[in-house]
Amino acid sequence: MTTEDKLQDYLDKAIHAAKAAGALIREAFYSPKRIQTKSAITDLVTETDQLAEKTIFDYLRSQYPGHVFVGEESVAAASEETKKIKLTDTETWVVDPLDGTTNFVHQFPHVAVSIGLLINKEPTVGVVFNPILGELFTAIKGRGAFLSNTLLNTPPQKLSTSGQNDLSLSLVASEYGSDRSKTRMDIVVNNSRVVVENPCHGLRSIGSAALQMSFVSAGRLDAYFETGIHVWDIAAGTVLVREAGGYVGDTTVNGENQPNDLSILARRVLCAATQDLAVQIVRKLTPIDLPSD
Ligand code: IPD
Ligand code: CA
Repeated sequence: MTTEDKLQDYLDKAIHAAKAAGALIREAFYSPKRIQTKSAITDLVTETDQLAEKTIFDYLRSQYPGHVFVGEESVAAASEETKKIKLTDTETWVVDPLDGTTNFVHQFPHVAVSIGLLINKEPTVGVVFNPILGELFTAIKGRGAFLSNTLLNTPPQKLSTSGQNDLSLSLVASEYGSDRSKTRMDIVVNNSRVVVENPCHGLRSIGSAALQMSFVSAGRLDAYFETGIHVWDIAAGTVLVREAGGYVGDTTVNGENQPNDLSILARRVLCAATQDLAVQIVRKLTPIDLPSD
């Protein structure tokens, strides 16, 4: 198989897995859910999250037994000693089986399956699927990002970010995250405030990191930033935004007052339609320190 064919095969299988997990999410969406909490009372998980991850992993493992698999719910179930993620150059599937669990619990329809593939630690294939709206975002590194709708049967359309480079004309997204400690909240709220009072057109919290990145790739949002996300929230979205011509980096600045490069395990992300826009935002943000994934 050529490298091209191999990448297409990875994408096809990731789409198959996302649709299988998406069917479970759809089926459970309007039913009562058994909700448990993880790191905090604001960090929710349901049986559907766990079943969706098992469905994705069972399928992808059967197809690619030599690959490595990282999933939100597997990490949550691991012991403290094995929780830490150590990336290798082997093909690594990074999966959030249900991004937007809080939305799922509240029947707020922005929920998604997020499947990213890292090759040599580089985000290379990304699939984000909202099974409620039928929106399927896909990308392969070097081959563009696409959106189709499985409910409306629309063919894939190529995506480009909005190209926006002026914060005062931008629609931006950010989130509070699940850690509501005072010190962190003071910074998080202030980071949103400085962007809004710049001003910008508006600030949104859609409740799914993967969808917010997908929306940047589709030009619906101009930028999104958050501290406290995990690698499974952003692995697929990173490919989408970059392939749509956007910028993905860190929420901290380097010596030249430019955003640092994305460090995928660092739990920080800033993506934007253009690098210029990312620069305007990052210069306003106060950094938040967190242990990496
Ligand atoms: C969460 C969502 C949310 C973001 C959190 C994530 P989950 O993922 O992406 O938008 O603010 O940081 O943990 O828990 O719904 O998979
Ligand atoms: Ca999740």
